[in-house]
Amino acid sequence: MKKIGVFYSFRSIKTAKIADIIVEKFGKDKAVAVDVDHAWEKDFLAYDKLIFGVPTWFDGELPSYWDELIPMLEDIDFKGKKVAVFGNGNQKDYGENFGDAVGIMAEIIKSAGAEVIGFTSTEGYSFESSKADMGNEQFCGLILDFENQIKLNLPRIEQWVDHLKREI
Ligand SMILES: Cc1cc2nc3c(=O)[nH]c(=O)nc-3n(C[C@H](O)[C@H](O)[C@H](O)COP(=O)(O)O)c2cc1C
Repeated sequence: MKKIGVFYSFRSIKTAKIADIIVEKFGKDKAVAVDVDHAWEKDFLAYDKLIFGVPTWFDGELPSYWDELIPMLEDIDFKGKKVAVFGNGNQKDYGENFGDAVGIMAEIIKSAGAEVIGFTSTEGYSFESSKADMGNEQFCGLILDFENQIKLNLPRIEQWVDHLKREI
């Protein structure tokens, strides 16, 4: 089996914590961390199964290091690739844009041909609106909230990885 590429910025400390757990849960023989700050087209093309770590910043936006890659991602043919997205958000202070970046990224890669996997339940979260909310009580990825629900991070990640192992 080809490895799973886990793409995130190694400079984002909280995102890196999540990504480390994800890689560990899959096993280092199955998943490899890729620093998105130094990623080129060939790095994305090297994997058929990818996981993107995309926290939400700037009131509902992608962080700048992902934003800069969007024109390139839009040009990549993701057909045949499965992509799952996770990201940090803050449902209390940014309840109107909770985890928006997960939804924005899922939409971009879906338009580029990818199959987006790893949907999760919105149960247990309290927010007003989110671009990751699919409207059927599901997020199109995993959202973690360090500021308000840090204790739920580990069980949420474990559940997500178990779910992905079946989907991937
Ligand atoms: C200036 C600023 C803007 C933010 N905007 C949002 C937002 O629109 N939606 C959201 O859910 N969280 C928002 N957050 C919360 C971050 O997503 C959260 O702190 C996250 O843990 C950051 O992860 P990172 O350090 O790995 O980048 C914002 C945080 C800051 C400091």
